[in-house]
Amino acid sequence: MDDERITQVRESDDDIRDSGSLRPKRLDDFIGQSNVKENLKVFIEAAKLRGEPLDHVLFYGPPGLGKTTLAGIIANELGVDIKITSGPAIERAGDLAAILTNLNENDVFFIDEIHRLNRSVEEVLYSAMEDYALDIIIGKGPSARSIRLDIAKFTLIGATTRAGSLSSPLRDRFGVIDKFEMYTNEELAQIIGRSAGLMGVEIDDESKLLMAKCSRGTPRVANRLLKRIRDFSQVMGDGRITVDVTQKALNQLGVDSLGLENLDREILRAIIERFNGGPVGIDTIAASIGEERVTIEDAYEPYLIQSGLLYRTQKGRMVSRLGYEHMGMEYPFGEDDEERKSKAEGRARSRSSVSDEDSDDNDNDEDIQIKFYNV
Ligand SMILES: Nc1ncnc2c1ncn2[C@@H]1O[C@H](COP(=O)(O)OP(=O)(O)OP(=O)(O)O)[C@@H](O)[C@H]1O
Ligand SMILES: [Mg+2]
Repeated sequence: MDDERITQVRESDDDIRDSGSLRPKRLDDFIGQSNVKENLKVFIEAAKLRGEPLDHVLFYGPPGLGKTTLAGIIANELGVDIKITSGPAIERAGDLAAILTNLNENDVFFIDEIHRLNRSVEEVLYSAMEDYALDIIIGKGPSARSIRLDIAKFTLIGATTRAGSLSSPLRDRFGVIDKFEMYTNEELAQIIGRSAGLMGVEIDDESKLLMAKCSRGTPRVANRLLKRIRDFSQVMGDGRITVDVTQKALNQLGVDSLGLENLDREILRAIIERFNGGPVGIDTIAASIGEERVTIEDAYEPYLIQSGLLYRTQKGRMVSRLGYEHMGMEYPFGEDDEERKSKAEGRARSRSSVSDEDSDDNDNDEDIQIKFYNV
């Protein structure tokens, strides 16, 4: 995908270079996600009082909402070290064993993209999470034997954009499971204000809100917009960010009033023009605009749905009335969104014996129903 997109939610190299300075380090500096935060506050306090590791934590939700940031904060608040890796980076069970045997008591071990762990690694993780032990097989063939190695008690924090892809044995071993929600415009404005302060940039409230509205509910996008708009303010004006500068910069960057960019609009346009507004399966959409399905599902669709432009039905995706309006196209249906949706779903039900590859919404990880805390 195009890494230069200003509103892309995925992390770019630029973000990685800069993130250190803008990332909040304490729970109190972390804006939004108040449910997640309030609960964690209690669990962290309790774990500290008992001198025990925090229970294993799973974070899930779209990219750029602060999962990695919050994992770092947890380690900070606990006063322990954090080791960071990602699912695809741990290729063999031995790689995992090497990390785990090097952890100190109560340390945090963070695995990003935990849904991409391979099976043999995942199995080693089970006993590590449950018993703080590793079962290692030494030797080959008939002389092979298994030994059990104790490791330090630790907290695993897993992050994933797709909780639905996690195996249930793994999911069940997390004591705390938290879903990250997209941020409200007010929260984003606050994040922008905080970041501007850290960057030493002057910005007024109206500009913060305007930028927030274009940030796709995502702090990563908000910070990136802020940096680019600061560039414009320095070149076009005196370095202060005003509504005028912000608006001009957004136009220049091709970001519309809802924060949509070309590919978002292409998705909506394809569904409207080629599939009569839907319902149409995600694979078909992906093929018709030449993007990968996962890219659309992870990076584009969540925000289109969140902002009410797109619906997900059992039969596939549909563009809403708002979506038509936002695209400047006339809404061609006599019935409203709800009626269109239920009509499509009715059709899906009556055809439910036919398995349709494209009516692909069962892997949807919108909500994991289990939410339990046992600290
Ligand atoms: N609640 C917040 N308050 C202030 N800044 C935040 C907050 N959440 C995230 N950020 C900022 O947004 C950036 C992206 O956050 P982060 O890297 O933690 O997202 P993520 O959920 O781990 O994304 P991914 O799924 O791509 O790994 C961070 O660099 C941080 O500066
Ligand atoms: Mg991350």
